[in-house]
Amino acid sequence: MTAAVAVPFPVKAAEADGPFKLPDLPYSYDALEPYIDTQTMKLHHDGHHAAYVAKLNEAVNKYPELKTKTVEELLMNLDKLPQDIREAVRNNGGGHYNHSLFWNFMGKNKAKAPTGKLRSDIDKTFGSFEDFKKAFKEAALNRFGSGWAWLIKDKDGALKIVSTPNQDSPIMEGITPILGLDVWEHAYYLKYQNKRGDYIDAWWNVVNWDDISKNYK
Ligand SMILES: [Fe+2]
Repeated sequence: MTAAVAVPFPVKAAEADGPFKLPDLPYSYDALEPYIDTQTMKLHHDGHHAAYVAKLNEAVNKYPELKTKTVEELLMNLDKLPQDIREAVRNNGGGHYNHSLFWNFMGKNKAKAPTGKLRSDIDKTFGSFEDFKKAFKEAALNRFGSGWAWLIKDKDGALKIVSTPNQDSPIMEGITPILGLDVWEHAYYLKYQNKRGDYIDAWWNVVNWDDISKNYK
C-alpha cells in the first residue's frame, strides 16, 4: 500500500446540481497501484468523470422532462433529444456511463482470468483467454485518438470485441458492455506517457474478473 500522493494541481471539477451524481470509487485511489497510479485515479475520477457529470446535468437541466430519465435511456434515444443538447448528452452522458462501468471493471486482488460460462464462451469464441487478450489489446491499440475497447455480446448472442471513438458506447445500440477499457490519454499519460501498449499490459492485472464473470449471463 502506498501513501496518498499529494496532487500538485486542482483536479476537482465544478459540481453542477442535477439528477446525475458522481459515484464514489468502489476502492481507494491507491488500490490499483502500481498498475494504475494514485494520481491518475484522482484526476480521472474527481476531474474527468466529475466534469462529465456536471456537463450532463447542465444539459438536462434545460429540459425538466429529461430529469427523470436514466443515463441509459438518454443514450439509447439520442435521436429523440432536443438538438441543442444532443451532442452534450452524447459526449457527457457517454462519459458518465462509460466511467461508471469502468471503475467496476477494475479491482484489487481479483481473479486473474474469467471463470465459469464467461471463460468457456471466451475460449470457444477466441480460441483461448490469451488469444482473447491479444485481440482485445489490438482493438485498444488501433483505436485512433480517444475512445474505448469493449467486450460485448452482440444481438445474436455472440461475444465480440469492438471499439468506439470518444465517449460513444455500446449502450447507444442497447448493448450493455461486459468489459471495457478507457484508452483516452487521460487514463494513462501520467504514468505511461505515450505507451498505450504498456498501459494495456498492466491493466490486465487489475481487471475485476470476479464480478465480470459473475455478472455475465
Ligand atoms: Fe476516462
